[in-house]
Amino acid sequence: MQTYITVPYERPDAIPDDIEGDDWTPETLVERVVETYTDPGETVLDPFAGFGTTLAVAERLDRIPYGVEFDSERAAFVRDRVDHGENVVHGDVFELDGSELPTVDLCHTSPPFIAWDEGVDPFRSYDVESRTSYERYLDDVERLFDRVTEWMRADSTLVVDVANLKNDQGTFTLAWDVGRRITERVDRAKFRGETVVVWEDEESDDRTDAYGHGYDHSYCLVYDVAGGAR
Ligand SMILES: C[S@@+](CC[C@H](N)C(=O)[O-])C[C@H]1O[C@@H](n2cnc3c(N)ncnc32)[C@H](O)[C@@H]1O
Repeated sequence: MQTYITVPYERPDAIPDDIEGDDWTPETLVERVVETYTDPGETVLDPFAGFGTTLAVAERLDRIPYGVEFDSERAAFVRDRVDHGENVVHGDVFELDGSELPTVDLCHTSPPFIAWDEGVDPFRSYDVESRTSYERYLDDVERLFDRVTEWMRADSTLVVDVANLKNDQGTFTLAWDVGRRITERVDRAKFRGETVVVWEDEESDDRTDAYGHGYDHSYCLVYDVAGGAR
């Protein structure tokens, strides 16, 4: 397993300007993860599908994509974006029982990050009416990955993209806290290690915020998954 990779931070061409938000994952990273951890014909799940980058790249690489997305506009966009549109569930991943999905070979996802200063719940797609705390957010991370690893086959791989955050409120160890929570509390997931993703910002010499969130790097946390019982 590589301990660091360098990739360009590029907006995927397929994302139209009229869909709000810039919380996409660059395709180059997804390509590396999908090619490293799966073979053609295998299944790839992103339970926070967003704009569908994981699904679209997986499909292009001859894997079978599955996804869940809370936001209706994004879910509709992803359904149109991939040939396997029927594999995109519009809904709240916390509400699924897994019967909508097959047992998958790889889960590659970037959970929405908590905004420190507002307490808005990212797992309600940042609906301003929803509130949470950092501890509740970590409880949800644990609950979510406990559930998702049930939907994975034995000896499969979970890759979680996450970053620490630095802003005018301070520096927050989000990546490490999420990593520790999954490692210590999600029984089916055994931490294999992390790949540090160093982002190249081709438009600026100032690399300090190349990833956003005050950093020029993020992490892929890689777990070996024992798989669920089904
Ligand atoms: C960081 S983005 C993922 C971006 C994705 N990797 C891409 O490249 O487009 C997180 C996504 O999770 C979705 N989301 C948030 N809460 C959710 C929930 N409870 N169930 C399903 N999706 C959710 C958000 O709407 C957002 O699109």
